Amino acid sequence: MKRLLPNILVTGSPCTGKSTICSEICETCSLEYINVSEFAKTNNLFVEYDETLECHILDEDKVIDELEDQMKEGGNVVDYHGCDFFPERWFDIVFVLTTDNTLLYDRLVRRGYSGKKLENNLECEIFQTILDEAKNNYDENIVYRLNSNTPDDMQNNVEQISEWIESYKRQHSNGELRQDPVIL
Ligand SMILES: Nc1ncnc2c1ncn2[C@@H]1O[C@H](COP(=O)(O)OP(=O)(O)O)[C@@H](O)[C@H]1O
Ligand SMILES: [Mg+2]
Repeated sequence: MKRLLPNILVTGSPCTGKSTICSEICETCSLEYINVSEFAKTNNLFVEYDETLECHILDEDKVIDELEDQMKEGGNVVDYHGCDFFPERWFDIVFVLTTDNTLLYDRLVRRGYSGKKLENNLECEIFQTILDEAKNNYDENIVYRLNSNTPDDMQNNVEQISEWIESYKRQHSNGELRQDPVIL
């Protein structure tokens, strides 16, 4: 059955602006914000710590089990720097944020990234790893790449996504199944 409220995935490399945009969207459109890293921390859903990548590895199956019911309800904005393990059925639309490398470098350094971890993350962005991952895991027609270089970009993106959400809400209210809204 089609959800009355959409589920949205916002993905992209670290520091592309996912958490900033998700918080704004949730405030504007009254949807639930799920920051998967925070959720995993709060519920202790990690399998191990990867010394090379300097990050915790999610227990993906547990994360999916824990979120399944809430995702079935709809109305969630999910924020995570990866997307290959979420079930395809969860999302109505997927946004991949991208940032020019020099800008991303500065943001990552400001966040305290250095050495191999900094290098890995910049490489991930150069090779558009997460965009490919999104296109491989979801219907390409629901995957949108968004520039996230400047505050103006952020503002535009919030506006576009909010419009899409409002349009989805209108089209799925009173249980009617009309065509999915189109963006851009
Ligand atoms: N479009 C943008 N323009 C300018 N600064 C941005 C933009 N998006 C994010 N930032 C800044 O980059 C940093 C990382 O943003 P954040 O939302 O935490 O990224 P993520 O959740 O993807 O790691 C923050 O300091 C934020 O203010
Ligand atoms: Mg974040």
